[in-house]
Amino acid sequence: MPDLTQSGSEELVLAFLAEAGDEVVSGEAISDKLGLTRAAVWKHVEALRQQGYRIDAVATRGYRLVEVPDRLRALELKPLLNTHDVGQVLHCYEELGSTNDRAKQLAEEGAEHGEVVVAEKQTEGRGRRGREWISPARRNVAFSVVLRPEALPPVRAPELTLVASLAVCDALRQAGVGCGIKWPNDVLAGGRKIAGILTEMEAEPDRVHWVVVGVGVNVNTRAEDFPPELRGEATSILIERGQPAPRALFLAALLSGLEAWYDVHEEQGFEPIREAWKARTVTLGREVSVRTDGEDVVGLAEDIDEQGALLVRTPRGVKRIYSGDVALLRPR
Ligand code: BTN
Repeated sequence: MPDLTQSGSEELVLAFLAEAGDEVVSGEAISDKLGLTRAAVWKHVEALRQQGYRIDAVATRGYRLVEVPDRLRALELKPLLNTHDVGQVLHCYEELGSTNDRAKQLAEEGAEHGEVVVAEKQTEGRGRRGREWISPARRNVAFSVVLRPEALPPVRAPELTLVASLAVCDALRQAGVGCGIKWPNDVLAGGRKIAGILTEMEAEPDRVHWVVVGVGVNVNTRAEDFPPELRGEATSILIERGQPAPRALFLAALLSGLEAWYDVHEEQGFEPIREAWKARTVTLGREVSVRTDGEDVVGLAEDIDEQGALLVRTPRGVKRIYSGDVALLRPR
């Protein structure tokens, strides 16, 4: 059960019901476990119902949580999280310019490792290479997490982007969407982009102060929510599955996966991340054209190296690419 010792009784009742899943939980069990009177349990259940939770009262047997409101707030997310750090402090906003900007500000002000900023809508969402990231209100998941790796040299910080891409890919697959990672960290479903990651950091030459990893996933975006020029290139869980996904559940699974992969990286280094990334990528073995700052590199994407750089075999030898935009050309 998540550590909710800092939470109010209402949140604890919700956590108890959420953990029971489809099971009916008796009022007695809740009151015994949480040290509340039966009347207090009933009062909290009523308060939750007022906020949009559907909690069925099953005759003589107790309560069952049937539906969680489609909101991304601490009350919805905390009971669903299975983490020790990531998301234990949540900053949830109806609207923000960019969650990355807010997370960077919080990091500067001393935010702890794992603090997460979530917004229902971003007005200035940013993508890689100065691009715009569109997140219409209440349809997607847009968040940023502050990470404070203890012993990671700044040159290795980009590995954390690959760590995040594993968690995004896994959460999408759990939600029933077949997807793969395009180097370095775009997640594609059916050849179209469903999620992106923007990593920023502050460091001295030999010490990382903080890394902010920002993730945007198109969850319940309809085709008409995308600008016409993006419709052929972008997709969402809703479009792929034909039905919407509960965003709080999706985000909680993603944050839990992010922490699990972060822990693997911290304890075992980059190699298991590299292997897991290779098992999920759609880039390797493909002819690619990579737009880098200096030139366009065309060739066969063969591998990623021990730092996550893409190795592309060209007629002039193997090129090692540290950052760029990949276009997938014909299949192998
Ligand atoms: C990309 O694919 O170019 C990266 C997109 C990253 C978008 C996310 S949404 C949450 C966070 N806040 C931002 O402004 N950007 C990232």
